Amino acid sequence: MIQAVIFDLDGVIVSTDECHYQAWKRMAEEENIPFNRTINERLRGVSRMESLDIILENSAREYSNKEKAALAARKNSYYVELIQSLSENDLLPGALHALRSLRENGIKIAIGSSSKNTPLIMKRLGIESLFDAVADGNDISRSKPDPEVFLLAAQKLGMSPGDCLVVEDADSGVEAALRAGMKVLGVGSAKNNPRATVTAGDLSSFDILSYIRQS
Ligand code: BG6
Ligand code: MG
Repeated sequence: MIQAVIFDLDGVIVSTDECHYQAWKRMAEEENIPFNRTINERLRGVSRMESLDIILENSAREYSNKEKAALAARKNSYYVELIQSLSENDLLPGALHALRSLRENGIKIAIGSSSKNTPLIMKRLGIESLFDAVADGNDISRSKPDPEVFLLAAQKLGMSPGDCLVVEDADSGVEAALRAGMKVLGVGSAKNNPRATVTAGDLSSFDILSYIRQS
């Protein structure tokens, strides 16, 4: 029986995808590194430094670790600039309703995100108080598809992995949830992922509470 739901943040609760894309694009153009939306799809759910490594596969030259840290910091400064204007209008369809109805019905809810900007984003959206636990990029050393972030979220909730449902938009996140021994609802970019336990276009077209009650 599912007793807790762990939500990915970017692409599930909030549409920050375009901000990530624009920030990486600005950095890549400044460095003359080819970058496009197809490459960008591979960055979903992946940590900042691993995302940079994927982008640098197309670079004409090698970068030292120090230079790489500077590139990642530069991208993040562009990204943080872009997310300053985030507000509750950027919450994805059905997200707030899902969070509230789960809470009201005694289901524990947590965030399990690779992003180090999770605290800032949650603050801008005004959703911090809705969650029982947060596990994010600041707490982990291994990025999705490693299950670390979801196992940590379950631990913070005091739940067994088998009692948790993950909601994910990234294929890497679907794998992470399965490796954690959890069920996973694939939405958005993961809505056609055959590995997901169940799928939906977004949270407005799926009743998590009913699903939990039937499971
Ligand atoms: C994930 C995004 O949630 O966070 C990735 O899907 C991003 O695209 C990752 O790279 C890390 O984000 P941040 O905010 O720590 O750079
Ligand atoms: Mg995501």
